[in-house]
Amino acid sequence: MTPQAPGDARPLAVVVLAAGQGTRMKSATPKVLHTISGRTLLGHVLAAARELRPAHTVVVVRHERDRVVASLDEAMPGLLVVDQDEVPGTGRAVELAVGALPAAFDGDVVVLSGDVPLIAADAVRELLRAHAEADAAATVLTAALEDPSGYGRIVRGADGLVDRIVEHRDADAAVLAIAEINTGTYVFRHAALRRALPEVGVANDQGEKYLTDVVALLRGAGEVVAARAAEDAVAVMGVNDRAQLAEAERRMNERIVRGHQLAGVTIRDPRTTWIDVEVAIGADTEILPGTQLRGATTIGEGAVVGPDTTLTDTEVDDFATVERAVANLAVIGAGASVGPFAYLRPGTVLGPAGKIGTYVETKNARIGRGSKVPHLSYIGDAEIGEDTNLGASTITANYDGRDKHRTRIGSHVHTAVHTTIVAPVEIGDGATIAGGSRIWKDVPPDSLAMNPTQQRHVEGWVPPYRRGADAAGAAESDRGASADQ
Ligand code: UD1
Ligand code: CA
Repeated sequence: MTPQAPGDARPLAVVVLAAGQGTRMKSATPKVLHTISGRTLLGHVLAAARELRPAHTVVVVRHERDRVVASLDEAMPGLLVVDQDEVPGTGRAVELAVGALPAAFDGDVVVLSGDVPLIAADAVRELLRAHAEADAAATVLTAALEDPSGYGRIVRGADGLVDRIVEHRDADAAVLAIAEINTGTYVFRHAALRRALPEVGVANDQGEKYLTDVVALLRGAGEVVAARAAEDAVAVMGVNDRAQLAEAERRMNERIVRGHQLAGVTIRDPRTTWIDVEVAIGADTEILPGTQLRGATTIGEGAVVGPDTTLTDTEVDDFATVERAVANLAVIGAGASVGPFAYLRPGTVLGPAGKIGTYVETKNARIGRGSKVPHLSYIGDAEIGEDTNLGASTITANYDGRDKHRTRIGSHVHTAVHTTIVAPVEIGDGATIAGGSRIWKDVPPDSLAMNPTQQRHVEGWVPPYRRGADAAGAAESDRGASADQ
């Protein structure tokens, strides 16, 4: 019985439990589909599982199974889905998962919970190492918690090995005093697990088939059950309610932020910076307080983002600056500047060195290299060439109440303030638009466009108007009073 050398790994299967409802979430959404850091709880667990490069990955589903399965396709195509039947409990879930493995499978089975999102592949690797060293039939990942309530407790024998695991609700006072808990992460030798599971009964407070009962059964059969304490007790926390969901997201965010910091990103205030797990950020970029980077956002090198900026699925190229802005499905070119106070809606593509300034909203708009929309504008369904400058309050009127139309503005165009561009319309390269214009016909290149209104003056119109009727009356009695003197 030579302990297995690390690295000389037996074939591996990972079972992820995701059949439960998650009653304590009080949610129409199954617990494992709640998200933290832009990914479902289950997605985080599967990402860790994938890093282990298992021969088989089995996800057990039941509650809202179609929704849970639909979420899987993106996360990890080609994995095995097993439906749990009406027999409840983690033991039944694993029994069915193990039954779905090929009969010839002769290796280790790692069991992960779909509601323990912070679990890292490294922690599981350590568990596998401990399992191999102890040559155990089962090895449990445990943690010593200040407040162990709710968790199953690890009852160790005189030899230091695990005798049994007792659920909180089935525990007596002596067992409740044990601080070492079951994290719900285990590795089992396949053959031993397969033998023990059918023997698990339902004689417990919940009438469920508990996976944890396998431990006592294995011990009874003279097998070794080892325990390995997690190095980071926080990383094995389960999410059972919304408070724990927020706590898990905070911890996950800390991990993500630290990863970027160590890779050369300056993050001024980790506590108010929220970065989804798939976001990429280049070195020497600076993220200022109050910034949220969501979804598949990517940021290049040397950029400055924030403060108070939310970017979703947005690309920010090298050396761009984005200040107090909201952007969704937008592209911000190299060296471009956005904000403060800008709203970039889907389909906005700002060219290199371009500018989308203050109180500007854009949608489905390509703004070419070096072109600027600095103040108080709405640019929608538009294409703008290079080195064009749109004056304050240039508005594309893209919607006629029924259809949306496109606006084309060439390169080196200059609009003065308060220009309304009524689409569909095209402004040629090099054109200039006079202030206050309403452009509704195509403008030829290099021409000045205007639709001037006449300015008239009515001299002496203001004073009587300014006084108003009462003022006029008061003036009248003033004059009367002075006449009396
Ligand atoms: C479980 C453990 C407990 C441990 C805790 C750690 C058991 C009996 N208890 O308790 O010792 O301290 O995890 O977080 O295993 N699930 C199924 N099918 C089911 C029931 C549950 O797939 O029939 C899934 C759930 O979706 C969830 C996971 O198993 O992902 C854990 O279930 P949960 O009900 O949260 O178990 P706990 O009571 O937390
Ligand atoms: Ca749980």
